[in-house]
Amino acid sequence: MNKLTLVAPPDKSISHRALLFNAFSGGTAKIANLLLSYDTLATIDCIQKLGCRVSLNGDTCSILGIKKFWSGTTLDCKNSGTTMRLLIGLLSGIRGCDCVLTGDESLSSRPMKRVVDPLVSRGADIVSTNDYAPITVFGQNLKDFKYTLPIASAQVKSAILLSGLRASGDTTVIQPIPSRDHTEIMLKAMGADILIKGEKILLNPSILSSLSFCISGDISSASFWMVLAAIKPNCEITINNVNINPTRAGILDVFDQVGVEYSLGNIKSDIEKVADISVKYTKYLKPFVIDSTLIPRLIDEIPILSLLACFCQGQSLINDCSELRVKESDRIASIVECLSALGANIEQKQDSLTISQSDLHGDATVQSYGDHRIALTMEIANLILGNIKVVARECIGVSYPQFFADLEKYREIYK
Ligand code: S3P
Repeated sequence: MNKLTLVAPPDKSISHRALLFNAFSGGTAKIANLLLSYDTLATIDCIQKLGCRVSLNGDTCSILGIKKFWSGTTLDCKNSGTTMRLLIGLLSGIRGCDCVLTGDESLSSRPMKRVVDPLVSRGADIVSTNDYAPITVFGQNLKDFKYTLPIASAQVKSAILLSGLRASGDTTVIQPIPSRDHTEIMLKAMGADILIKGEKILLNPSILSSLSFCISGDISSASFWMVLAAIKPNCEITINNVNINPTRAGILDVFDQVGVEYSLGNIKSDIEKVADISVKYTKYLKPFVIDSTLIPRLIDEIPILSLLACFCQGQSLINDCSELRVKESDRIASIVECLSALGANIEQKQDSLTISQSDLHGDATVQSYGDHRIALTMEIANLILGNIKVVARECIGVSYPQFFADLEKYREIYK
């Protein structure tokens, strides 16, 4: 068996947070292995417009946090939901700082009511047309607040917690289903007065200290290679330095259900846990079921797991996934369109996908719908089936700018 080793690209969620939280801490920090993609460059641009000094040396970033917030600026969050939602939370509590947040066509059609409504009920002054971008935030002194999340969203959870940093009282967020906890972990590491008690997160107003660290690899980007290795005969791929925070590593639970042969090596814990993940071609793949508690732990992996489902011997079910309808594209519709074009046996309901083992073929042109995770899934399908043209695939740069370089490494081994 030929073996390929790749290094996972830096984690996108952690990169956004490292930039934003250090900018708001007002101190100096050095972030190594920062993801430099369309989304994180949008975050860099926004914090610079707020008065943060950022300098890049390769993928190492020096940040001199904001001493005095520049007001009256327009912050273009481009395609990045994380940038917009976290900034709405952070800025809503900075008195005297008024900003307009804009985004591209996709981001301007994504729901912001989920962050605007709870923030307004703690005293935020936020103006928008029907709760879509552009969103104007007039920073206010916010009051104490207790909120039960109606959806399992790390972006909403983070926006509410971040609004509490400079509030006049404490913030309690109750999350019935846990979502990624990078915000909680990083705030704690930066000295915030934050306590996690079961499903409750309690935050007292806090001044953040700057935090220098090295960002671990993104399991969402690694997942494309992990699934390829499981499906492609004679393939074995190791992806080094992958963040395996349990709130992100739901794909490994699916691999356990499916019977994929994988192993974790070189496990290390710094701020978060990382490992090298090796996956081998597995001949017999069992079907899988995903439901509400697993969904947030693999929300961004559903497109590539849908491709995996086509190779599992039986019918796989992905339930409770209506959140996919409001991602960079309507991902349920995009997956169904793309996989159907390859001959998949796939059906959608408003909040679920049913996918049966399918005899897929290449020789197709598919759309990316401007959605990086859809384009990446179809690039992987191309490596298995051949002759698939992905239209508008440059959106891959949103999360995985070095994908085509890694593709070359793959082709050198598996010609
Ligand atoms: C993210 C949270 C998830 C995920 C997105 C990044 C984050 O979104 O889909 O790619 O960095 O907090 P939701 O929190 O809206 O589910």
